[in-house]
Amino acid sequence: MKSLKIGNTFIFMIILAIFITAISMNALIVSASPENDSVGLYLEKYRPQFHFSPERNWMNDPNGLVFYNGKYHMFYQYNPYGNKWGNMSWGHAISKDLVHWEHLPVALRPDKLGMIFSGSAVVDKHNTSGLFKEKPGGLVAIYTSAGETQQQSLAYSTDDGVTWTKYEGNPVIPNPGIEDFRDPKVIWYEKEKKWVMLLAAGDHVRLYSSKNLIDWEYMSKFDEGAHGGVWECPELFELPVNGDPNNTKWVLQVDLNPGAVAGGSGGQYFIGEFDGKTFINDNPPDEIRWVDYGKDFYATQTWFNTNNRKIWIGWMNNWEYAEFIPTHPWRGAMSLPRELTLKTIPGEGIKLIQDPVIELQAIRQRPNEWKDQRIIPGQNILSDMNSNTIEIRAEFEIGSATEFGFKVRKGKSEETIIGYNTDRNQLFVDRTNSGEDQFHEQFAGKHTAPLHPVDNRIKLHIFVDHSSVEVFGNTGERVITDRIFPEPSSKGVELYVENGDVQLLSLTVNELDSIWQK
Ligand code: FRU
Repeated sequence: MKSLKIGNTFIFMIILAIFITAISMNALIVSASPENDSVGLYLEKYRPQFHFSPERNWMNDPNGLVFYNGKYHMFYQYNPYGNKWGNMSWGHAISKDLVHWEHLPVALRPDKLGMIFSGSAVVDKHNTSGLFKEKPGGLVAIYTSAGETQQQSLAYSTDDGVTWTKYEGNPVIPNPGIEDFRDPKVIWYEKEKKWVMLLAAGDHVRLYSSKNLIDWEYMSKFDEGAHGGVWECPELFELPVNGDPNNTKWVLQVDLNPGAVAGGSGGQYFIGEFDGKTFINDNPPDEIRWVDYGKDFYATQTWFNTNNRKIWIGWMNNWEYAEFIPTHPWRGAMSLPRELTLKTIPGEGIKLIQDPVIELQAIRQRPNEWKDQRIIPGQNILSDMNSNTIEIRAEFEIGSATEFGFKVRKGKSEETIIGYNTDRNQLFVDRTNSGEDQFHEQFAGKHTAPLHPVDNRIKLHIFVDHSSVEVFGNTGERVITDRIFPEPSSKGVELYVENGDVQLLSLTVNELDSIWQK
């Protein structure tokens, strides 16, 4: 009996052990599965490691960008139920440094007026709206209700943007009979102590003003520039020229889809004056200034309430193929946040300069540096580098070469070329052989931007992530943003030169930390 008892206990212990092992194995399998673990999720093929992307589902435009109580808020067009556009809501994330993001619950969901399309958010600190009964003021979101028609609505939050109450008098701007009537961007015009709203209305931008965010008065319209497609997501802000606070200009930015410089959707900007009522372009109406010469920078918006800094971020995608890019279970990523300034470029006038925000320096790993080296064809000083998350800063003095630059995400049969053509004075990103591109015929291609050397020198500042490249030419004068979908094993980097030599004055390459993995 005794031995039988021991035998029973023994068998029971073995069964228990098998059971516990099975449970924990299962738990392991479950938590390693991308679908079930938010850390595992950020390890999928093509998942950007230092760019924002939602854990799962579809994302497009940044919305409601506002700095409030020490946090940068980023809302975004989001489908909570699928990996394609639909059920448009506002997703929400916050950051203390514009680099690391924390996901928060969906902030705004469709209602009887329709889906929640793009819009902006402001800090109504003096309660001009009268919406804040208990607290002195709070956040107000101004967005497009997209139902049978498109109209503008408000919501307000008293808990730092986590939960929102829709204004009961919505819409605050009903549809006047214009089909495409959306994307309100609201700014505070200090001189007249009033709110100004820009709205995309088909082929033009409309400007409205209000004292209380609720009653809006039409002021003027702006319709110069490129018109290859419908206008969307306008922006308006003031910046000093060449850092001089006594000499400022206004920038009006608007996106169009299609008809942008690289095909499909993209942005254009204008520089001029704004008197509180009308925007006057300083330049000829048909002179186009493109925001980005790549295919994947759209619907950019600036943060409200960042004092003397102007920072914007864009959706790294193009409506031409947005719903087909091969990522799962999420679709859509944001660009790096970029700080904006205005600078006079000899022969070109005042230009908008975009620089990745300095906060990104925090994720740099140890630098690899080179100085003063003549580069000739056939040698690759970066042959030891192997990474799919890198930042490259380089300055070249042009020599006899017709082309030079970097090949990144290089594998056996694929590479993305970021180069400069000295005959054409052209910066380019060539993704014709960058990886997976069969999902859409308009994806593969080469995107070029005019870029003139300064004192015979060219500067390149490049960010390469798992599925994107952002190239800033000559300190942010020209930008090319492109998605790429190479194999994860394609990690090679090459500094190349063709038909002659180039003098490498300085080169720093940093691998970058993931913002998602601890
Ligand atoms: C721009 C856009 C906006 C619209 C939103 C809908 O990408 O088309 O005009 O509000 O996306 O998701």
